[in-house]
Amino acid sequence: MTDAPAKRLFIKTYGCQMNVYDSGRMADVLAPLGYVPAESAADADMVILNTCHIREKAAEKVFSDLGRVRVLKSKRAEGGKDMIVAVAGCVAQAEGAEIMARAPFVDIVLGPQTYHRLPEMVARTTRARADRAAGRRAGVVDTEFPLEPKFDQLPAPRAEGPTAFLSVQEGCDKFCTFCVVPYTRGAEYSRPAADVLREARGLVAGGVREITLLGQNVNAYHGAGLHGAAWGLADLVRALANIEGLARIRYTTSHPRDMDETLMAAHRDVPALMPFLHLPLQAGSDKILEAMNRGHTADSYRKTIGKLRGYRPDIALSSDFIVGYPGESDRDFQDTLDLVREIGFTQTFSFKYNARPGTPAAALEEQIPEDVKDARLYALQDLLLTQQRAFDLGCVGKTFDVLLTHPGRYPGQLVGKSPYLQAVHVMADPKDIGRIVRLTIVSTESNSLGAVWAETAEGAARTA
Ligand code: SAH
Ligand code: SF4
Ligand code: F3S
Repeated sequence: MTDAPAKRLFIKTYGCQMNVYDSGRMADVLAPLGYVPAESAADADMVILNTCHIREKAAEKVFSDLGRVRVLKSKRAEGGKDMIVAVAGCVAQAEGAEIMARAPFVDIVLGPQTYHRLPEMVARTTRARADRAAGRRAGVVDTEFPLEPKFDQLPAPRAEGPTAFLSVQEGCDKFCTFCVVPYTRGAEYSRPAADVLREARGLVAGGVREITLLGQNVNAYHGAGLHGAAWGLADLVRALANIEGLARIRYTTSHPRDMDETLMAAHRDVPALMPFLHLPLQAGSDKILEAMNRGHTADSYRKTIGKLRGYRPDIALSSDFIVGYPGESDRDFQDTLDLVREIGFTQTFSFKYNARPGTPAAALEEQIPEDVKDARLYALQDLLLTQQRAFDLGCVGKTFDVLLTHPGRYPGQLVGKSPYLQAVHVMADPKDIGRIVRLTIVSTESNSLGAVWAETAEGAARTA
């Protein structure tokens, strides 16, 4: 490993699963420098805030957390200890200069595409201490979109528990008018299949049973295949399913435009591919979808779901929604409610439209008043919650394969995941973590299901 003295690293992650993955990789690149996890920011030699810019609240949270970090850093300085403060992720990409101006105690600002260079940035920061002592400002800012693919420069990630994220695609070329992601993450890029398979094999060798493939538009994946020609996501899923010990594959987030039939067929043919799809619809009115530049209509979404259900009738559907996009009328909003009623979702995320600086929709005149957005969000969430509850209640009495992932809140309890991505609680032995077991659902709570071991002729059945 390393002979460097142990230093403590604290990473706080905001935003989406890609940031969760990136935070793990930042810890990986810093490990050879001697960095090990810190319990809290207070006792850390280095603090990284891995930030999200998707909505104003997420971005503002970073600045309020930075205020707290500044206090911790000066307390450590009083005790003669140093603390390197880094801001990474999408706020860093979008507002690097502002961070340096508003928070001069920040040492490093790095974007999502440059974290493989972190060791070099840390070295530069340490050298810059001397300059600072000499009274010169010496922050390191690296928010390039470099030509060298960052994934090639990163060490293999370690498995931590039975589930793992694996980024296969990054960036976005779709430019929905409300969204900052194309600006913060850059252009679409797909990792070669060989790299993805290598990383997956390593994770499985470390005990991972379920991998969630990540990408801002993961179903637009088109990486170099094993035999030259480009592979789509379905090809990748089929190849991953051949890895012995990998029991489950998921992927997120998909775009309705890129949902092709080869991927739908994989949901029918590949048992490891879980019957769950997060396919953000955003709105049900064609006028609004067009204004958003989504590239799909209500009817094309309806048809996609119809086809998909032909391949995999039990597939559970999830979506993101935005209410109160500029110009959204009551009629438009009713269209969203109608389409939700027609399709039926099991788990969703819904947000009030939030104008983001630099995006085309922010400049539109017909912004919707906050109280109207509040009322629409309330009505939509009420409907979505009813659908989720109905789906959960319909699971009571059914027996599922559940992957047990971590201890529950109560002694003797474990939590796992159903095929449909519901959290399931059961009384079980901690050594069962990582196993896929047959459980019968007996109750529902607001965001989880309660289960007992499925009875068989021999008693409690345990599989895998
Ligand atoms: N690539 C995914 C979404 C990534 S962003 C897709 O195309 O669906 C995650 C979610 O945040 C989006 O689906 C959208 O619902 C929400 N979101 C993005 N920008 C937003 C904004 N300006 N205001 C409110 N919600 C927003
Ligand atoms: Fe944002 Fe649209 Fe790209 Fe999704 S597809 S990341 S919503 S621009
Ligand atoms: Fe947020 Fe960036 Fe993810 S803006 S949602 S952290 S891609």
